[in-house]
Amino acid sequence: MEDVTDQAFRLLCKEFGASMVYSEFVSADALIRSVNRSLEKIRVDDSERPVAIQIYGRDVPSMVEAAQIVESEAHPDILDINFGCPVKKVAGKGAGAGMLRTPELMLDITREVVRAVKIPVTVKTRLGWDCQNKIIVELAEQLQDCGIEALTIHGRTRSQMYQGEADWTLIGEVKQNPRMHIPIIGNGDICTAEQAADAFDRYGVDAVMIGRATFGQPWLFKDVRTYLDTGMHDDTMTLDWKMEVLKRQVRTSVAYSLREDNALKERKRTELGGIMHVRRHLANCPLFKGIPDFRQTRIKILRAETQEELFDLLDEAKERILSLKS
Ligand SMILES: Cc1cc2nc3c(=O)[nH]c(=O)nc-3n(C[C@H](O)[C@H](O)[C@H](O)COP(=O)(O)O)c2cc1C
Repeated sequence: MEDVTDQAFRLLCKEFGASMVYSEFVSADALIRSVNRSLEKIRVDDSERPVAIQIYGRDVPSMVEAAQIVESEAHPDILDINFGCPVKKVAGKGAGAGMLRTPELMLDITREVVRAVKIPVTVKTRLGWDCQNKIIVELAEQLQDCGIEALTIHGRTRSQMYQGEADWTLIGEVKQNPRMHIPIIGNGDICTAEQAADAFDRYGVDAVMIGRATFGQPWLFKDVRTYLDTGMHDDTMTLDWKMEVLKRQVRTSVAYSLREDNALKERKRTELGGIMHVRRHLANCPLFKGIPDFRQTRIKILRAETQEELFDLLDEAKERILSLKS
């Protein structure tokens, strides 16, 4: 997820039980122009494998070139193509979910990208452009015929953006289609371990992808994993432990930001870079929901510029949670 799944966060998700993690989406055009931010996004660490790098774009040549750059420079396990992003500056230009209006071009891009690289190629998309055009069942077959090795479906149309509830029935229909043999990954509105288990049971998907519910709580995967394995929640995660995880995320995010990288020599990397990335996660941490008048503290978190400031704010938040419980 853009501005969310940086390396520090992915490593925590992985450590807590995510089977696979994905980079933020990377613009094919920006990658070809060697824009620093895009080069930064495609860095992967061996400890996060299996890891997918996701690209988006709007024509065959740039997507093929970007795919080859990703393969040769970053060596991810999987190259994922984004045909699902609904935001205007992407979909409005025909990329991301915009491709749902030009399925022939989507298929051409997919076919040529699959041909151009040796690593497995997967696709993430939505049900269709709008409720009159939910083309996913047929599209899934066509994408599979292009040679992709898995398909992720977000159960909304582009027109829905992130509104309403995700509709998993068509995801289930794709999965039940006897012509389909590649893994189907269901996505949309999975926030709890029960919902993840339910998605597997009701729709028969091969995997579930969890997005927004991980903001500020990478340990969600630990609970989901335990629940799927045992039918019980993970009750080992104390408040102290969770606060330490958040602090670790801050430290890792700063460490990655400061890390020297030859490819990025010219970019001035600072502690603030890491802080800026991580503070949104902290501000959204579900642990802080329900703390009365937390708004001011949340604003301070979003404005903090050093690790110490953030740690002090986290300690303050912890004290307030404890005082609520006592
Ligand atoms: C801030 C934000 C950034 C996102 N960035 C990406 C992205 O880069 N690539 C992608 O495939 N999906 C992206 N998504 C969509 C999510 O991956 C996911 O498909 C969607 O939020 C529905 O799943 P959820 O209900 O589990 O969040 C993003 C969503 C949000 C809210």
